[in-house]
Amino acid sequence: MPSALSPAVVFDPERGLHIRQVSRRPAGPGEVEIEVRAAGVCHSDLHIVSGDWPSDRPLVLGHEAAGVVTGTGPGVTSVRPGDHVVLSWFAPCRRCRRCAAGQAWLCTGTKAVANTLPDGTTPFTDAEGEEVWPYLGLGAFTDRLVVPESAAVRVPRELPFGVGALLGCSVTTGVGAVVNTAGVRPGESAVVIGTGGVGLSVVMGLRLVGADPIVAVDLSPERLAVAERFGATHTLDGARDDVAAWCRRELGGVDYAFEAIGSPKVVETLPGMLASGGAAVLVGMAATDATGSFNLFDLADQGKRILGCNYGSSVGEIDIPKLARLHLAGRLPLDELIGVTRPLSEAAAALDDLRSNTGVRTILEP
Ligand SMILES: NC(=O)c1ccc[n+]([C@@H]2O[C@H](COP(=O)([O-])OP(=O)(O)OC[C@H]3O[C@@H](n4cnc5c(N)ncnc54)[C@H](O)[C@@H]3O)[C@@H](O)[C@H]2O)c1
Ligand SMILES: [Zn+2]
Ligand SMILES: [Zn+2]
Repeated sequence: MPSALSPAVVFDPERGLHIRQVSRRPAGPGEVEIEVRAAGVCHSDLHIVSGDWPSDRPLVLGHEAAGVVTGTGPGVTSVRPGDHVVLSWFAPCRRCRRCAAGQAWLCTGTKAVANTLPDGTTPFTDAEGEEVWPYLGLGAFTDRLVVPESAAVRVPRELPFGVGALLGCSVTTGVGAVVNTAGVRPGESAVVIGTGGVGLSVVMGLRLVGADPIVAVDLSPERLAVAERFGATHTLDGARDDVAAWCRRELGGVDYAFEAIGSPKVVETLPGMLASGGAAVLVGMAATDATGSFNLFDLADQGKRILGCNYGSSVGEIDIPKLARLHLAGRLPLDELIGVTRPLSEAAAALDDLRSNTGVRTILEP
């Protein structure tokens, strides 16, 4: 039996952003039914609304969420009804070569990026019987979901749902960029450009591993003040300061330059910030057709590296519980990343919060 109708935040190429009533079908084999308790609003939702990542079909937005398991389909063994879970938006297939090699973030068999469940279907139908598709295989801006088992990661019950939501995307991506993608060591230097939910998580990850100095760059003084609280030792204004010249003059170049915006213009400036042997880490996601150019002689001559970073090079079932434990042990102040909490009906305002680059992460509650 499909569930009763309930409101979902939908983006449709024709109608734009709106609230639509949807029902969801029960969990099939290998699937899990979830009641969403909190969902963060990430720039990757805004990329859909702004058209950076075009979609040809209606999508239930939302991919950074936590909730409770309410039912399981045949064959599910890792979670039970009542378990608290963080939803991972890059549900790995667990069968491809990358998955077999322990690199789930590079899975080539996942259907999440095609905005479907693993069997190519959607759990959502609207009142007219039209199918509505789950963004990144989740569609978490509604109250009830069906997700693949590999997307539902069990976490301790004492973890607050808002913090759990952030573990679904920004924190796992940002901290993972530091510890997994880059492998930053104590005393190495780093600059982080763009200190939204993802960039602030990079800053927190850098403090966790003992990086120093940690230079944060943003256009918003409010965001930079938060970055200082999270461990930035220096802050620069991205509109006013020449960050590459500053890094070379003051630090002789940095070991790591993290970009957490998705701006081709900013990415092109990263190699100029690096010391020889340093690495630029591309965490921000640009438009799907974006290109950039670098001085190739400088890259080769100075042994500089460019590292792509999908989902913080994380394996959800390993890294999400690890980060949850670090938070509960007082080592990662993830609650301080949470700004305003709004009801789902205020999703449009929540996306405006994100566009205005103020405050910290907005959480939606169904
Ligand atoms: N790699 C991944 O797997 C992954 C996961 C999640 C999000 N992302 C991407 O990361 C990016 C950031 O996401 P977010 O949710 O933190 O976004 P956000 O909008 O909260 O933060 C972006 C920040 O960049 C700042 N900024 C914009 N232009 C700037 C400039 N020229 N110089 C300095 N600062 C500038 C803004 O003021 C803002 O604070 C997005 O592109 C998102 O799609 C990537
Ligand atoms: Zn995200
Ligand atoms: Zn795979």
